[in-house]
Amino acid sequence: MRIKHWAVATVVILGGGAALLSLSSRAATTIPYQDSARVADGEAVYAQNCAGCHGVNLEGQANWQRRNGQGLLPAPPHDETGHTWHHADELLFRLTKLGPATIAGNGYRSAMPGFGGVLSDEQIWSVLAYIKAQWPADIQARHTQAFQ
Ligand code: HEC
Repeated sequence: MRIKHWAVATVVILGGGAALLSLSSRAATTIPYQDSARVADGEAVYAQNCAGCHGVNLEGQANWQRRNGQGLLPAPPHDETGHTWHHADELLFRLTKLGPATIAGNGYRSAMPGFGGVLSDEQIWSVLAYIKAQWPADIQARHTQAFQ
């Protein structure tokens, strides 16, 4: 009887530990834009994987709000003139990892591929850190306030 009690207690404690662990890993899934090492890593990831479409200075492509002849949107800017900062951390992560077509669903077509097969989750958070680190302080603050 005693042994059984302990077994139950152990399961409860382990269960609690798992919940705590998943909470702490959730907390880590925010954009680490104040971590200069992550921002530096992200800058390299951006230059290699994103700048070709989103622009070396995050300026996006010309006429980014209008679909081109193939019915696809050009790449939007990631600076404060775009709407990247209107999206929550987790959504930006998922858009980058899975690609806009997968996130939108319903046969939506996008010029942007998902980077899940190319970049690690950590690299994706780092590139988002680089992007957020380029925003003016008031935009950073508004983004943080809205989504955290
Ligand atoms: C081949 C061109 C291309 C590349 C390379 C590319 N993107 Fe994109 N990206 C786009 C286009 C086009 C869109 C607009 C979404 C759509 O198709 O509706 C977009 C949209 C986004 C969005 C949503 C922005 C918003 O305002 O809604 C994010 C976030 C994003 N890209 C991040 C990245 C990151 C990070 C990289 C590099 C790892 C990257 N993209 C590389 C073309 C590209």
